Amino acid sequence: MSSDDPLLQPYTLRHLEIRNRVFSSAHEPAYSEDGMPKDRYRDYHVEKARGGVGLTMTAGSAVVAEDSPPAFGNLHAYDDAIVPWIRRLTDGVHEHGAACMIQITHLGRRTSWNHDDWLPVLSASPVREPAHRTTPKIAEDWDIERIIDKYADAAERMQAGGMDGIEIEASGHLFDQFLSPLTNQREDAWGGDDERLMNFPTAVLEAIRERVGAGFIVGVRMAIDEVLPGGIETPRGLQVLGVWERAGLVDFVNVIRGHIETDAALSEVIPIHGMASAPHLDFAGMVRQHTDLTVMHAAKIDDVATARHSIREGKLDLVGMTRAQLADPHIVRKIIEGREDQIRPCVGATYCLDRIYEAGEALCIHNAATSREAEMPHDIEPALAQRRIVIIGAGPAGLEAARVAGERGHDVIVLEAMPWPGGQLNLATRNPRRRDLAGIVDWRVAECARLGVDLRCDMYADAAAVLALEAEVVIVATGGQPRTFETEAGNQRVVTSWDVLGGNATPEGDVLFFDDNGTHSAMSAAEMIARSGASLEIVTPERMFAVEVGGLNHVAYARAFNETDTRITLHQRVRSVRPEAGRLCVEIGSDHSDHRTVRQVDWVVTDTGLDALAELYFELRPSSSNGGAVDYGALMEGRTQSLVRQPEGTFQLFRIGDAVSSRNIHAAVYDALRLVKDL
Ligand SMILES: Cc1cc2nc3c(=O)[nH]c(=O)nc-3n(C[C@H](O)[C@H](O)[C@H](O)COP(=O)(O)O)c2cc1C
Ligand code: SF4
Repeated sequence: MSSDDPLLQPYTLRHLEIRNRVFSSAHEPAYSEDGMPKDRYRDYHVEKARGGVGLTMTAGSAVVAEDSPPAFGNLHAYDDAIVPWIRRLTDGVHEHGAACMIQITHLGRRTSWNHDDWLPVLSASPVREPAHRTTPKIAEDWDIERIIDKYADAAERMQAGGMDGIEIEASGHLFDQFLSPLTNQREDAWGGDDERLMNFPTAVLEAIRERVGAGFIVGVRMAIDEVLPGGIETPRGLQVLGVWERAGLVDFVNVIRGHIETDAALSEVIPIHGMASAPHLDFAGMVRQHTDLTVMHAAKIDDVATARHSIREGKLDLVGMTRAQLADPHIVRKIIEGREDQIRPCVGATYCLDRIYEAGEALCIHNAATSREAEMPHDIEPALAQRRIVIIGAGPAGLEAARVAGERGHDVIVLEAMPWPGGQLNLATRNPRRRDLAGIVDWRVAECARLGVDLRCDMYADAAAVLALEAEVVIVATGGQPRTFETEAGNQRVVTSWDVLGGNATPEGDVLFFDDNGTHSAMSAAEMIARSGASLEIVTPERMFAVEVGGLNHVAYARAFNETDTRITLHQRVRSVRPEAGRLCVEIGSDHSDHRTVRQVDWVVTDTGLDALAELYFELRPSSSNGGAVDYGALMEGRTQSLVRQPEGTFQLFRIGDAVSSRNIHAAVYDALRLVKDL
């Protein structure tokens, strides 16, 4: 695209020149340390600035007061100690030409009471928030006065730290918990009618404006319509926005449509794969027709064409591509350099967001460099000397190894036994809802082609075939295979989730699904069975179903199981399966007692995890120089592998991904990047 690309046009937000129309919306990635945006946090945003983003909205919900306990690693905007850290962050981003702002908030009831300082959680009224299971105390007059001041203090700190502006979170947080009649049931000065419902948020904005002056940019990320009966509806949302606009209290609106108090609701605001692209873009465009404020918006605008459309058609002033830049922080740079086809796609897996609620920091499912900028490169350096590298297996691990080795300039051959690349991902994408995951494979295959990698499919590789290629490095990425469930009298109708996903088995009638793994493979197969019309019972020994699947990904499975009357039985495992009168008799029992019950079904499907497929690795080990050994110190410190255990060996041997042990896609690509970037 040439320089008349709508996305590349500069934009002036009051006095601030933003170099193009692409922004990254606020998202707390939980990279903070002690509530401060230290090196990891800074590097993450600086990488996006290097990659060309126009504006990066840092933090997600940096908290303005101690009684807003961080729900997921939020920054402590209430602490003076943050100012120098903010200054380092803004300096780093500005140095690379991007604008930098920060979202601040008081979470109100949208947090948990049992961590950090254990101060009572409060809100306008004691309405429980389902997502955090918190019943807040009613904010008293001294709370309200204190928190209004805290907002202003936090805004002043951000201004002192060199931020170009701030965004107030007004979607599901204290600010709009006062505005929405659903969460504000007060009858005092702070609630009771339309005017008084506005008193707290308006007081916050006035206090901020008074403190930071007219020259500092202040905006709201606002649910213009909560899409909840009795909540804020569009006319009211627009009216409130108009009041703040006319009073000069806000300079931009970042449009949200929906509410976020349950996982199901949140997934409509932040849609995952299998859901419609850009579902609220037209709504945001409608808001733009009703205001002179700068209009921003982000919600699954993950491809450049849709982003470009949103600007060209005048729906937005600035378009958010947030997860898209988690997947590839260099989107804008690639557009400018005419390399749009090299953009690593966001496949909507939402591993990033699910991780902050379940496991810690946000990580992209297929970009292991994101948030590890200090150690893992987004741009791979060429190697000093070219080597021949043979990789066996073209799943995510093998393809990532091949891509990185190709970028290093090596002579790379990939041998894949199947007629096509992809490995286990080809099973995952059999669920139509998860088809977008194919982007993980397609992008790597295209990159490998560009880099001259020799990808040979339909090529079963035994040790002799590998040795004949006279490689200097051999990487085994042969993946895993499903564990089968031992039954008393084997039966063709006792199959694995892989049989179902691969189309080798089509369970019908009464189906019992034993999930002792808790991951997507089980849930995806179960979803397909449920949707096929079979009568399904899922049995798991865990305390919840799909224990390894995060909250937003849970939603689609839960929907499928609810819509199909699927029965979910927790705390039970299958003890035995035997044929009986043409059907299967399944005995199930819990780990907690000796009590047993019996089910008569037509099919049993199991998912009890994977075993590494590593025969080839063990066959090759004796001929290798390192005997397969990895120098973990060198791996962690970014030094090249040089262990020699068998001096007569002719090549270095490594294995990565599920061929080592069953993990996930992120682990597979991280194994590959971490090893191969230094080969
Ligand atoms: C890891 C993660 C954390 C997020 N945290 C916040 C947050 O704290 N505040 C907020 O307003 N939005 C948050 N979001 C939502 C994003 O700002 C954005 O609205 C969402 O990702 C949809 O845009 P996208 O499809 O371009 O990613 C978060 C998103 C992600 C992926
Ligand atoms: S984890 Fe998935 S949704 Fe999140 S950035 Fe990566 S590809 Fe996109």
